[in-house]
Amino acid sequence: MRVVYVIGTRPNFVKTAPVIAAMRDRHPEGRHVIVHTGQHYDRAMSEVFFEELGVPTPDHMLEVGSGTHAVQTARTMERLEPVLLAEEPDLLVVPGDVNSTLAAVLVATKLQLPVAHVESGLRSFDMTMPEEVNRIVADRFSEYLFMHSEEAVGNLRAEGIPDERMHMVGNTMIDTLVALRERIDAAGSPARLGVEEDAYALVTLHRPALVDGPLLGATVAQLAALSEQLPVVFPVHPRTRKMMEAAGAGADAPGLLLSEPLGYLDFLSLVAGARAVLTDSGGIQEETTYLGIPCFTLRDNTERPVTVELGTNRLLGLDPGAIASIPGALAERSDAPAEPPPLWDGHAAERIADVLLAAYPAADLAATTSA
Ligand code: UD1
Repeated sequence: MRVVYVIGTRPNFVKTAPVIAAMRDRHPEGRHVIVHTGQHYDRAMSEVFFEELGVPTPDHMLEVGSGTHAVQTARTMERLEPVLLAEEPDLLVVPGDVNSTLAAVLVATKLQLPVAHVESGLRSFDMTMPEEVNRIVADRFSEYLFMHSEEAVGNLRAEGIPDERMHMVGNTMIDTLVALRERIDAAGSPARLGVEEDAYALVTLHRPALVDGPLLGATVAQLAALSEQLPVVFPVHPRTRKMMEAAGAGADAPGLLLSEPLGYLDFLSLVAGARAVLTDSGGIQEETTYLGIPCFTLRDNTERPVTVELGTNRLLGLDPGAIASIPGALAERSDAPAEPPPLWDGHAAERIADVLLAAYPAADLAATTSA
């Protein structure tokens, strides 16, 4: 069996690493081809993750880099098509909802190659989010839909997708966290950054709705105000850094600690030690739910409602002023960590490998014959 895994951004690496490992482990005779689109390309956004997560060096680097949505997507499509024609895979595996994923699904579908979509069925019902468009297209054209929470089933059925394509397998992002837990706990990042465990807020912001417009300045001012009560650690995504510089949104406050983007172990070590996390990311809403850390999401909606239902995540709205409510909300809430959702247990990727290898009996046969 020949499988191509297409990954391009920081969260893609975290979600796909355990799938590649499980597939290689269960089907060592197969050909496992990793394509890195290069949507993320800075060392801190890419290489560091390959090293820490143990993802093998990609077989193909497409180096598409940054651009408008059309440019980035089109460039990925143009460069991926010849790779797929040469590799002749039986299957493509793609994660999440980024532009690399959209491009890969379109190219594979036109070449009539089956696609497996990891993290299927999430919906924010907000078409102004580029990721929502990408999710809908990826699910519409994928043959294997791997889901990690119950609401995905209803979302996919509502779009007319048949149940036979759906597989509830759990959360591969949590697989990575479980696999690296000891190293995360040993990383000691809070101490290294000079903050005390359980006595700082960790912040990440990168979505266009928040950082590409006038809300960014107000948000940074609110973070400076928050840092007078609770020190704030803020690893800044390159997109956000660029926008802060363009807007002249300086962040000069003694309690506000800005850093470059962090690697996986350092970042998760900071999440695990935080009193609270403030974010507009999707994956971080899930990681805080698993770890039982209070999360405040600076968005009007979430495609991950299970994190809100379980009580770890609270939607603040797309309203920088709501950041001021965080200390009060923390004082009120109980510290009982939530139980993670079913199947967020470290074994999702193994379930994915079971489904995919059972669907390709020739893979089992080839493995047996050459063994
Ligand atoms: C992308 C995803 C988003 C995901 C996020 C994770 C889409 C539509 N968006 O957003 O869903 O949550 O990745 O980080 O696919 N840049 C660098 N170095 C890099 C990468 C980016 O400097 O290695 C800068 C560039 O100026 C670029 C900007 O960041 O223009 C945005 O990068 P891009 O990949 O377009 O989107 P993200 O905001 O990272």
